[in-house]
Amino acid sequence: MIRRRTLIALLTLSAVYAGCKKDGAAGGPAGATSGSAGPGAGSGEVVVGHYASMTGSEAHFGQDTDKAIRMAIDEVNGSGGVVGRKLKVVTVDTRGDAAEAANAVTRLIDVERSVAILGEVASSLSLPGGRIAQRRKIPMVSPSSTNPKVTEIGDYVFRVCFIDPFQGKVMAKFAKENLKIERVAVLKDQKSDYSIGLADAFKAAFEPTGGKIVVEQSYSKGDTDFSAQLTAIKNTDAQAIFVPGYYTDVGAIAKTAERLGVKLILLGGDGWDSPDLFKIGGNAINGAYFSNHFAPDAATPKAKKFVADFKAKHGVEPTGLGALGWDAAMVLVEAMKKAGGFEADAVRKALSETRDFEGVTGKITMDPQRNANKSAVVLKVVDGAAKYETTVEP
Ligand code: PHE
Repeated sequence: MIRRRTLIALLTLSAVYAGCKKDGAAGGPAGATSGSAGPGAGSGEVVVGHYASMTGSEAHFGQDTDKAIRMAIDEVNGSGGVVGRKLKVVTVDTRGDAAEAANAVTRLIDVERSVAILGEVASSLSLPGGRIAQRRKIPMVSPSSTNPKVTEIGDYVFRVCFIDPFQGKVMAKFAKENLKIERVAVLKDQKSDYSIGLADAFKAAFEPTGGKIVVEQSYSKGDTDFSAQLTAIKNTDAQAIFVPGYYTDVGAIAKTAERLGVKLILLGGDGWDSPDLFKIGGNAINGAYFSNHFAPDAATPKAKKFVADFKAKHGVEPTGLGALGWDAAMVLVEAMKKAGGFEADAVRKALSETRDFEGVTGKITMDPQRNANKSAVVLKVVDGAAKYETTVEP
């Protein structure tokens, strides 16, 4: 047991990204002066912690988010920082694992002395991470976790995205009204809070329209064989399959469906948002639709600038993850400026007062539950890329 713990501690240590390691010259942890001073005290750089799936099957989520957060913080530092202090992003890898997410947030608070936490993407990771941030009273902003339970953790946990009851309604309405679909099969990841919640939300919105869920099947993240579930679905009169999963599994599911001759329309949510979906799914994913936070091809002037800057720096277009990462960082910075510093309760209060913040993904206003009330887009997969289809207002 002890051995195992030591091993985990060592692994976690090595997971702190080299590029963002503390250099020690910054005046100690977060510029802290001495023992009892809180994080952010003193005069050196101030650490903002980011916990993210930098590796693993959701690596694209963490990497895209991290790139955008760093761009945002660079910009803030370039124009003088916050109350005269420079910010420094320290990223800890969660590897897409819930236990690692808890370790990462603990480390970001205790060792790195973060004044605030950004992350995670995946709801099942923001839940354990958020519980620690709440217990330690350090504000956390998730860019992109959409499960309602995340912000229900408590008053220190925020998000800059919409939540799944809305996202489920968007896809239910789109299926019924735009695609004229009446009968849907659901294929969800039974280990993911996000997937279970979004499946339920879709069902809750689709059935009252007269639509029918004809069969529900499930898998677990990382499964490689989906043929039993898809065969069961094939044996029904479903016209579409709603697959609220993450891109790696969804790509493999699309492939298997094609191989088994299951020619149903695939529908999904924001968890599909990665170019890797097209790499893994190939032609099999063409013609599918999913809801999302952002469409680079239907961007506002502010979003266009972000897309261009991201592309210039990283050589690829950002996904919705990048856009949300940028917005999460900027909403946090705005709150720190409003708070006039980094004291946790003041930043928490300023975050809760976020109103009409002009983000890359739209206007952000924190509602009393610390969620952002925002529109969603529906994207269609055409020739291995996601194309803007429509916008749905809350
Ligand atoms: N909303 C997903 C979740 O809560 C994460 C996600 C957001 C994935 C946006 C891709 C894009 O788990």
